[in-house]
Parts: sequence; structure tokens; C-alpha cells
Amino acid sequence: MENNRRFLHFFDQDEYEKEVPESDEKKNKPFPLFQKPYDETKSLIDLIPPEKFIIGKKPFIVAINRRMSRRNYTDESLTLEELSFLLWCTQGVKRAFKDRTGVLRTVPSAGAKSPFETYLIINRVEGIKPGMYRYISFKHKLLFIKNIENAEELIGKLTYDQKFIGKGAVLFCWVAIPYRTEWRYTIVAHKFIAVDLGHVSENLYLACEAIDLGTVAIGYYEQKKFDTLLELDGKNEFVVLVAPVGKYPTLI
Ligand SMILES: Cc1cc2nc3c(=O)[nH]c(=O)nc-3n(C[C@H](O)[C@H](O)[C@H](O)COP(=O)(O)O)c2cc1C
Repeated sequence: MENNRRFLHFFDQDEYEKEVPESDEKKNKPFPLFQKPYDETKSLIDLIPPEKFIIGKKPFIVAINRRMSRRNYTDESLTLEELSFLLWCTQGVKRAFKDRTGVLRTVPSAGAKSPFETYLIINRVEGIKPGMYRYISFKHKLLFIKNIENAEELIGKLTYDQKFIGKGAVLFCWVAIPYRTEWRYTIVAHKFIAVDLGHVSENLYLACEAIDLGTVAIGYYEQKKFDTLLELDGKNEFVVLVAPVGKYPTLI
């Protein structure tokens, strides 16, 4: 247990010099890509751009005060604008650095390294067929990856039988690509990645509350089976958190 705690610590300056190895950045190794490559001959699905959002104007303090983990979802679909809003709020790209060593998004990230990709398992979004997708954040578009049979049941099974998770309209799956952060921060990267992930997840919570949707962060999932489903190698890229999103029943 104590060994596992270690990664949450940082270093005093004298220790840092001794313990933290020279980074690949210092060794002039090529910088990592901040968006996983994809087959660019494939057509992408347009999302609603942020300047056209009509939703999301709720006062910030209302969203903060309402925020809670919501585990009960109706059968309603999300609109394309709602999905676009959530993707923008969690990983939207505002600007890439000119030297391409980082990218500024709607969420903070240590060194602007932004070590995540967002995969979606879509059950119900208006105008989008169900299946697995990836958010192509640099273009604010969606890439279709594949159909998934019996997604609701499968998601429930892969999350330690938490059946409500499969009933969401969409499942957000955040995938870490640690090298993006390791390239500069070597052994301290892993703490930064965990902290970065918390920011992304909290933005999803607050963005959902701002548009009357519900979500819950899900830490209990079957790692290898989820990575296999998303076609990830489990080493250089792997799932780190999932979160169902759906409309929630309003109490009368
Ligand atoms: C990293 C993390 C992992 C979590 N994993 C689960 C989970 O697997 N299943 C679940 O129902 N809730 C999960 N939760 C939600 C917590 O149970 C919830 O945030 C906590 O009970 C506080 O309730 P609140 O979010 O409504 O304030 C997780 C939350 C976090 C931040």
C-alpha cells in the first residue's frame, strides 16, 4: 500500500535532481502527437461548434450546487447539441502551441500535455447511429469506429455488474496516452495524469448539470476487457475512467 502512495508525492528540489531522470524532451526526442492518428480518408461526423451553442447558460453557482452523481437515466436521447457541448467542455481544443509541444483545451493539463483521448459508446443520440466513436478534438468532430452488439448489457458486465451504467444515452470512456506527459515529466507524469483526469471528469459533471443531464464517474471497470473492446494495447494507451450520461427523471 505504502509503495502505491508514492506516486502521489512530489519531490523537494534536491531530491528532484537525484531521483527524476532526464526527460526525452531534454534529450531532444521528437515530441508526441496530441491527437491519436486516424484514417483521414474516413468521413467524420460534424458536431455543433461552441459558438453556436444555445444551451448551457445556467448560472455557474446553480450547476455547482446541483452537482451530484446521478445513476438513474430515462430512455430519452441526447441531442447532437448536448453531446457537442459535453465533448467541448471536457476536451475541446482552443489552441495548439506553435511549436506543437502542447495544446490548450477547455480543461487544464500539466504542461498542456493533455494525455487523453475520448471514446464514446453511443446508445441514444439524435441523428447518430449507436456504436463506438472517438472524439477528434482538433476538428471537433466524431469518428465512427464500430458497432457494438448488446451495448447496454455488455457495459453493465464490464463495470462489475453496475447495470445502470449501460442504460445511459452515452458512455464517455477516457483513455490515457501516458507518453504525452512522460515525454517532459518522466516519473512525475503519473501523478499529473491522475490530476488532469480529475479536471476532465469534473468538467463533465458540471457541464451535465448546466444542461440538465446526469453523470457519474466510474472507477470500477474491467481493465483488460475494456481495453480490448476499445482496441487499445493496454500499455501505451488504456482506459482510465468511464462515465455514463443521460437525462434523469425529474421529481414531481
Ligand atoms: C474516481 C471515482 C470513481 C468512482 N467510481 C464509482 C463507481 O464505480 N460506481 C459508482 O456508482 N460511483 C462511483 N463514483 C461516484 C462516487 O461514489 C460519488 O462521487 C460519491 O459517492 C459522492 O457522491 P456525489 O458525487 O453525489 O457527491 C466514483 C467517483 C470518483 C470520483
